[in-house]
Amino acid sequence: MIIEVVATAVWTMLPAYVPNNVAVLAGGGAPIDGGRTLGGRRILGDGKTWRGTGVGTLAGVVVAFGLNGMLPTLTEMGARLEPFSLGAAIGLASGAMLGDIAASFIKRRSGRQRGVPLPVIDQLDFVVGAISCAGILAPRWTIETFTLPVVIAVLILTPVLHLGTNAGAYVLGFKKEPY
Ligand code: CTP
Ligand code: MG
Repeated sequence: MIIEVVATAVWTMLPAYVPNNVAVLAGGGAPIDGGRTLGGRRILGDGKTWRGTGVGTLAGVVVAFGLNGMLPTLTEMGARLEPFSLGAAIGLASGAMLGDIAASFIKRRSGRQRGVPLPVIDQLDFVVGAISCAGILAPRWTIETFTLPVVIAVLILTPVLHLGTNAGAYVLGFKKEPY
């Protein structure tokens, strides 16, 4: 039972986890805010780029369909998982990027420079974005997938996985901060 909930949580959130990590690898180039400021501070900052956002979103959608391709094998092994619809795939991936961008907007408004950590928000911004956007683009899929136990598992597992992968990216030299 608990294994099923955890498996569903990880499976469902993979297309939302991957975009942030791919954005770190693909980032660079023109910032989304074009260097513009709001009230003397950058709107988003140099850490949110067109390339990172675009490649990250695409990667999330590709992961969703890659997972769909693995579904027959996993089902045969006894897993009970739902395939991603196109709306769900796009919603999870773009929502993850949008949530992260929204958090940067809030960080800049509160005077935090690029890269300064904002615990809890940093770990959950993309979860809120992903579930919200999936809810808009694939409402039925979202209601059926994100049951209360799954949401609770996502809220517990995400910060752990997020901190783990970020620490790994830092050790490998892909990220400036280990969070
Ligand atoms: N990145 C990107 N585009 C995004 C998100 C991330 O290009 N939409 C890249 C940037 O190179 C960024 C790195 O991934 O520096 C790490 O992402 P993140 O921690 O979200 O950005 P920070 O640099 O910490 O900036 P912020 O303070 O705004 O979160
Ligand atoms: Mg950061």
